[in-house]
Amino acid sequence: MAVDSLTPPVEGPAFSPGLEGVPATHSAICDIDGRQGLLTYRGYTVGDLVGQSSFLETAYLLIWGELPTAAELRAFEHEVQMHRRVSFRIRDMMKSFPSQGHPMDALQASAASLGLFYSRRALDNPEYIVGAVVRLLAKIPTMVAAFQLIRKGQDPIQPRDDLPYAANFLYMLTEREPDPMAARIFDACLILHAEHSLNASTFSARVTASTLTDPYAVVASAVGTLAGPLHGGANEDVLTMLEEIGSEDRVEAWLDQAIASKQKIMGFGHREYKVKDPRAVILQKLAEELFDRFGHDPLYDLARRLEQAAATRLGPKGIYPNVDFYSGLVYRKLGIPEDLFTPIFAIARTAGWLAHWKEQLGANRIYRPSQIYTGASGRDWMPLQAR
Ligand code: CMC
Repeated sequence: MAVDSLTPPVEGPAFSPGLEGVPATHSAICDIDGRQGLLTYRGYTVGDLVGQSSFLETAYLLIWGELPTAAELRAFEHEVQMHRRVSFRIRDMMKSFPSQGHPMDALQASAASLGLFYSRRALDNPEYIVGAVVRLLAKIPTMVAAFQLIRKGQDPIQPRDDLPYAANFLYMLTEREPDPMAARIFDACLILHAEHSLNASTFSARVTASTLTDPYAVVASAVGTLAGPLHGGANEDVLTMLEEIGSEDRVEAWLDQAIASKQKIMGFGHREYKVKDPRAVILQKLAEELFDRFGHDPLYDLARRLEQAAATRLGPKGIYPNVDFYSGLVYRKLGIPEDLFTPIFAIARTAGWLAHWKEQLGANRIYRPSQIYTGASGRDWMPLQAR
């Protein structure tokens, strides 16, 4: 029996598929105005943070609620830097992962494995909270970079203490110190992906947090949720889609056919935004900066043509490019393999997940929604021979 959208159960509130419009928590971390295309973290616009801040400063803001003083930021950066290395046991475990496995699966397994190494569930101890925040922010990038080298048959390289967060990640990935402009743009990408209110992976993080399990399980469950193509996995699919379209003159016919067959256009649409995602606007500018410096990418022209063609066809339904539409083009120009796009999203979003973990603990009640039962009842059990 199908249950219609908003069918009221016999008692209780109306059912909303995908929980659309259902508030599931109070939160002071991030606000989205989907009609104006405005995104703020703790009251600061994401554009201001990209222009003025660094990813680690933004992570501090998200998690602790205020911008750090210079001394607080120095201490936080230092702590994160001190915890970047991962145990040889984790590296050895990663060496046994299949090299053709997806890096998101490798990340989910390695994030969960941190729980084996660090003491569990001292959730009422502020030092434990700080330690977990620092470790997760510090080690997730190291684990993403380690799997990239391991699957190529190489040993992971150690983090460089003299490099800031974003530059160090690119260094661990490519074994080359990155161009400062590339590192700055990558850091901006991390800021743009750091938080986005109660999206699927953050909801998953809060549900897991509400059971009072350890923070490594919280982040591991969120990584698994982010991996899907309707969520973080879309950034990888955008490039595949652009490559499949192939050339600008094919855009309109491809799009008409895709819409007619009810295919989702990857990198378009958002539950919250009914205009172009403000992060897509900024990412597009960052992509153009990169192209000016390092050379043009013809896929960008194709992407812009697709955006134009989609404006008349999908715009009236409030479907515009989201964050994933231009991020892949930026990462591609930075020389990052396509299947690392979503793990990079996870590196950034770890800041948001941790902010929500901490907020959830501050006013916790376990999540346990209800359901509308649609199955059979009152059936008589039938012996095996009689079925
Ligand atoms: N292409 C074509 N039509 C679309 C698209 C799209 N990308 N997105 C939504 N629609 C249509 C959909 O077919 C439906 O039409 P109708 O009412 O005629 O049946 C209507 O818009 C509502 O769609 P929905 O799937 O019910 O909307 P939702 O709020 O449940 O889903 C979404 C939001 C992001 C999952 C969806 O827009 C989508 O699948 N987009 C493509 C995947 C993507 O780019 N995901 C990244 C999201 S942003 C980053 C992140 O959160 O990770």
